[in-house]
Amino acid sequence: MSMVPQRLVWAVGRLAPRPGDRVLEVGCGPGLAAGLICAALTEGRLLAVDRSAIAVGAARRRNAAAVAAGQVTFRLAELAALDPADGPFDRILAVDVNVFWARPPGAEYALLPRLLAPGGELHLCWQPPDAGRIPLILDRVTGRLRDDDWTVQSTAHPEGPFCAVRARRAG
Ligand SMILES: C[S@@+](CC[C@H](N)C(=O)[O-])C[C@H]1O[C@@H](n2cnc3c(N)ncnc32)[C@H](O)[C@@H]1O
Repeated sequence: MSMVPQRLVWAVGRLAPRPGDRVLEVGCGPGLAAGLICAALTEGRLLAVDRSAIAVGAARRRNAAAVAAGQVTFRLAELAALDPADGPFDRILAVDVNVFWARPPGAEYALLPRLLAPGGELHLCWQPPDAGRIPLILDRVTGRLRDDDWTVQSTAHPEGPFCAVRARRAG
């Protein structure tokens, strides 16, 4: 069994999925965080999407028991292709998905509030290869979310190093 990287343990710890949560993971890669999320769910469900067929195949194999139990669905999809009817989600997680900071904000940012349930939380986390990027990432992502009426908290973790943004809809 693969070791789960510390960034994913940290990210899922921050996400803190509750047993009944409906969770969306964007850019699930080979499904390592998905395994941690499923372990926290009882009646809750996880939809995990990735635009890479190789990643989705690996995630399905790694989490075959949870897939068979109907606890998680892995879908080959871009975030921007999701339908609000796929939700709503109590928690949305993305780890090391660069679309949120590296490109100008597009359809992804517009869709997030439509996918999130009232009171839900968005968690975006990174372990950039160049730790010097952390201030830029946090500055850009928090600025974009605040401009779009989210309440945002960001944190940088010196080990790793990792950084993360937790956001809720304002109001
Ligand atoms: C660097 S990997 C991180 C994978 C996993 N979250 C982890 O931390 O191990 C980024 C993943 O996000 C996926 N991805 C990037 N942009 C995406 C998007 N807009 N929609 C869906 N998946 C995306 C990529 O295919 C890739 O599998």
